[in-house]
Amino acid sequence: MDDAAKKTVLRHFPYGLYAVTVAHDGEDHGMTANWLTQAAFDPPMVVVAIENTSKTIGMVRDSHHFAINLLLKGQRDLAGKLGRSSDQAPQKLKGIKTKPAPVAGAPVLVDGLGWVECRVVATLPAGDHTLVLGEIGARRRGAHPGGSGLQVLRLITASGRRLARRKSCTALLPRRLNQAVP
Ligand SMILES: Cc1cc2nc3c(=O)[nH]c(=O)nc-3n(C[C@H](O)[C@H](O)[C@H](O)COP(=O)(O)O)c2cc1C
Repeated sequence: MDDAAKKTVLRHFPYGLYAVTVAHDGEDHGMTANWLTQAAFDPPMVVVAIENTSKTIGMVRDSHHFAINLLLKGQRDLAGKLGRSSDQAPQKLKGIKTKPAPVAGAPVLVDGLGWVECRVVATLPAGDHTLVLGEIGARRRGAHPGGSGLQVLRLITASGRRLARRKSCTALLPRRLNQAVP
């Protein structure tokens, strides 16, 4: 398959959109991630690809824990904020309501759709990213008055631009897409 064909196929992969959060040495940190999926039922596990140059990967390695926060449809701006590099935007969680998750204290978003706290069970180099496999310990759905009618934020790929205009999708963040499909 040539490079152009690969790019075309990759652009059509559908993704969710999450905030990966972590605490280490008294510092809270978070980043937006879309390369994330459940990886096992029993025990329940998730895997996330985290950029090797990020601040997050170092903190996850050091604390051996992280949290995955599900974002709500209305939290697109938050996804954009946490999606900036910490070089340009230090203390990205400042001003965002969080509380420490029970096991390792990863800061979980109080106003998100829900969260899981994970213990790192393996990491695997994957080019410019590292795959982090986490076993889910604590979990909680957010307490929202909207209840089950709330919708999760999803990443819409470049090929979904037209859909975005029709408002059937909630997030279009092309800068990341350029990174994802170099
Ligand atoms: C929509 C979107 C999705 C992203 N998905 C990922 C991802 O899956 N993995 C990743 O390493 N970075 C991803 N990023 C980039 C990181 O959020 C960003 O580079 C991060 O803030 C840098 O990490 P740091 O703050 O820990 O240094 C994404 C950014 C955006 C805007």
